[in-house]
Amino acid sequence: MASEQASGHLNQISKSDAVRTMFAQIAPRYDFLNHALSLNVDRRWRRRLVRSLATVLERPGARVLDLCCGTADLSIELAHNAETWGVDFCHPMLKLGVRKVRDSRSNVVLIEGDALKTPFPDASFDAVSIAFGLRNLESVREGLIEMLRLIKPGGKVAVLEFSKPIVPVFRNFYGWYFNRVLPGIGRLISGSKTAYRYLPDSVKAFPDQEALAAIMTEVGFSEVTYYNLFYGVAAVHLAEKRTPERRR
Ligand SMILES: C[S@@+](CC[C@H](N)C(=O)[O-])C[C@H]1O[C@@H](n2cnc3c(N)ncnc32)[C@H](O)[C@@H]1O
Repeated sequence: MASEQASGHLNQISKSDAVRTMFAQIAPRYDFLNHALSLNVDRRWRRRLVRSLATVLERPGARVLDLCCGTADLSIELAHNAETWGVDFCHPMLKLGVRKVRDSRSNVVLIEGDALKTPFPDASFDAVSIAFGLRNLESVREGLIEMLRLIKPGGKVAVLEFSKPIVPVFRNFYGWYFNRVLPGIGRLISGSKTAYRYLPDSVKAFPDQEALAAIMTEVGFSEVTYYNLFYGVAAVHLAEKRTPERRR
């Protein structure tokens, strides 16, 4: 019932508008809930993503774009290594991010905008990341195409997203927690009836590890790989943009 309400709500208006409104509602509690519900594991996952991009972030003058940056946790981690830009279309999330960037004196520029239509020219960045954002886009494929456009040839993309637990017994236990327990806690703390029902629903609708890797290959990325985090609760997908072959 709650699930039908959540998806019904998202169907009546465009997914983007519903997602933006939902994150605006939960923004003040977003960081707290993220860290509390994951027992701080989410921070480790973002750091792991940054380490996976090390080879490109270490390039002299490297520039990285963090799409759907929200309150800028990943952007701030990335900025230890490279000049970082963050894009998000939810003003209240971004406002919290601006404060965190300022407090941490990080080298991050935050921009309010749509991840599917960014204002940057082709091949502007050495790396593009997206953490828990791809699932929320109107189109996963269009999001990946935009990322491919933005990366320089030889650059890398990293996608951190919830995925499908790979150990059957754990999958059942986790399914119970994620579908039954988490939405209740999320509703109590965030005050939003739909946001933490939308979370498991949107993860269910999102491609699993292999399917996402296949879509990334289809849209034109090369060297697509992924690794699981916490037995597949989440996964990081990595891929490269081919360098054009030199003419003889
Ligand atoms: C679950 S939060 C993730 C935030 C952050 N990346 C993190 O790791 O905590 C998803 C974010 O994606 C943003 N978002 C969703 N669709 C977007 C779009 N089309 N353009 C820009 N931001 C978008 C939302 O506003 C929200 O801040």
